[in-house]
Amino acid sequence: MNDPFDSLCVRKLDLPDHNPAQQLPLFLSSSFSFDTIEQGIDIFTGQQDGFVYSRYGNPTIEAVTRRLEALEGFGLDTDIRGYMTSSGMSAIHLILVSLLQQGDKVVTQANLYGGTTELLTKVMQGMGIEAVFTDLTDLERLESLIRSDKSIRAIYLETPTNPTLACLDLQVLGDLAYRNGVKTIVDNTFSTPYLQRPFGLGIDFVIHSTTKYMNGHGTGIAGLVLGRDVSFMKDRFWSVLKLTGATCNPFDAWLVANGLRTLPLRMERHCENALALAKALSDHEGVNLVNYPGLESHASHALASRQMSGYGGMLSFEVKGGQEKALRVMNGLKLASLAPTLGDVDTLVLHPATSSHLKIPAVIREAQGITNGLIRVSVGLEGVSDLFDDFTSALDSSD
Ligand SMILES: Cc1ncc(COP(=O)(O)O)c(C=O)c1O
Repeated sequence: MNDPFDSLCVRKLDLPDHNPAQQLPLFLSSSFSFDTIEQGIDIFTGQQDGFVYSRYGNPTIEAVTRRLEALEGFGLDTDIRGYMTSSGMSAIHLILVSLLQQGDKVVTQANLYGGTTELLTKVMQGMGIEAVFTDLTDLERLESLIRSDKSIRAIYLETPTNPTLACLDLQVLGDLAYRNGVKTIVDNTFSTPYLQRPFGLGIDFVIHSTTKYMNGHGTGIAGLVLGRDVSFMKDRFWSVLKLTGATCNPFDAWLVANGLRTLPLRMERHCENALALAKALSDHEGVNLVNYPGLESHASHALASRQMSGYGGMLSFEVKGGQEKALRVMNGLKLASLAPTLGDVDTLVLHPATSSHLKIPAVIREAQGITNGLIRVSVGLEGVSDLFDDFTSALDSSD
């Protein structure tokens, strides 16, 4: 028995009084202590600012969140409130359950990220919140649908969409929703606020899988929800977040902070490489078509030029010869990796028909342009001539 020694080992450590660290400190503490019980009561009751418990708030997470709010609201004369979440999926789930109640409906598009479609049809549906899938480019139909059904409370959308990079007009949809008293939620994961800022186009809520470009290095899983209605976010949204516990962890938030430092540099290079690769693939005789909004031939080129400041790092291309050929091309790639994510510094390819869109019936999938020969590429930051060589030799040697 050596009580004083044992107690010394256990006792809380105090940070030395010091000038600030240049890089963001990582606070790995589930709770925060109080100097006095009176201070604890004041913090608990909101009379004094302070931290209580990391599920409610944590200094590392809050520092990153303030920066994310500033980026997504950049150049706008409006307050934005955000919360980081445990993943992109929890961000989507949380905004839907905070905003909607049993009996409410959300209008959305057929070509969403597969996980979102499944969340809507398998989880939200069971809670009595119905997703109505429609063509969000058919504005007349959309407006009459909303006017004829008062239980429609929100429009949920992605632009550009995965994996055909079709774009939706945010300003037009934002205006339509506003005049009909319906809220809009946009998944801005593919673009990041560097390329597209939906709040400036009248959108109410923006969600992200920060797992992708915001982290940028494929080292964590996290999400983000931001809203222009600050009191809704602080009261209703935060309450649902803390009670369901889908909070971001400090280390994943810290990794996002690290990624944000180079976001503009990375996005510029992603865009540059993607455009160059899209052009090279368009010229290859083994390729039927290339989906990239930066190509003049892409159906959304004019819209993307208007509402984005760059066309992003995602593209997809359809090889001649269907699935067999597509799989041979993918196996022939040496520099690019086969991995089911996007937005990392390295080039990643995926075959939508056998992975992200596997559960979508072939007829519906093909009607959206997601054919068996389609390959999705998250174009990385490699030297562009190495990328050309890799894709060209994989195409040439796959016959
Ligand atoms: C556009 C989009 N939104 C949301 C998600 C879900 O994000 P997470 O995997 O971080 O939960 C993904 C994941 O691939 C995605 O591509």
